[in-house]
Amino acid sequence: MSLNDYLKQATDNGWAVGHFNASELDQIRAILDACKEIGSPVMVGTSEGERKHLGLLEAVALRDAFRKKYGIPVFLNADHHKSVETAQEAIDAGYDSVHIDLSSFPMEENVIGTKMVVDYARVKNKEISVEGELGYLRGESKIHHEKIEVKPEDYTKVDQAKEFVARTGVDRLAIVIGNIHGIAPSHPRLDVQRVLDIRRALPNSVALVLHGGSGIPDGEVEEAIGVGIANVHINTELRVAYVHGLKRDLEQYPGEVAMYKLDAGAIKAMKLVVKDKLKLFGAVNKI
Ligand code: G3H
Ligand code: ZN
Repeated sequence: MSLNDYLKQATDNGWAVGHFNASELDQIRAILDACKEIGSPVMVGTSEGERKHLGLLEAVALRDAFRKKYGIPVFLNADHHKSVETAQEAIDAGYDSVHIDLSSFPMEENVIGTKMVVDYARVKNKEISVEGELGYLRGESKIHHEKIEVKPEDYTKVDQAKEFVARTGVDRLAIVIGNIHGIAPSHPRLDVQRVLDIRRALPNSVALVLHGGSGIPDGEVEEAIGVGIANVHINTELRVAYVHGLKRDLEQYPGEVAMYKLDAGAIKAMKLVVKDKLKLFGAVNKI
């Protein structure tokens, strides 16, 4: 089954495909170990920065290696790619999915650039899934010490979402409903009614994506999935688990210098996060 097939199943049946960001082999291993154990299809994402660190060809090769080793549906996504060129590079390299994020541009430019990526992907391989983004998503994947104010004009508007999807032909739409990137001292409540309104305005073949999944209370994530979110992105909580796990091992074994021994705690901690999230998303035994 293609990624779009899984997303359609998720939309139709009220669960969500998990998307986890990675820039290290350890993270990919933790994500896929967890998915193998509980039977979840999954998206592994690299932002432009993460992709630069991991390497474009390396990311594709690792996906292929884990697909072969585990036999599970793992889809590689070029997350938050900010230009048509970088999105096209990822498609050429063999990514299964691209998120062309031109949300900082005016609607018209966003539509034109996103459509260029959709057209490019369709010619390359009809199974490539393309995501566009509409609205202003604040923050980045880190621990914020200040409150992040989400303004009314940041939210995705229903009529614009309808027009954007019709004109671009995207498979997925990232929406802003009170979500932010990263973990902040307080999070606005997700606007579940808006998810419902956007869901009703779009064809069922288009999946709704919730970015900034870290730090949102479980109940709100469940509610959002219940009204139409079919894909949830997690990055910061994985990063935190990695660093805390590593710090614990460094403190506990001060004389240890073998990295493959020191990263065991980090992998275990990340695996727990991934499993908990996939259970929350209702994505267990969905292969
Ligand atoms: O694209 C990545 C995600 O939206 C991650 O957001 O760092 O808040 O989990 P997060
Ligand atoms: Zn994101």
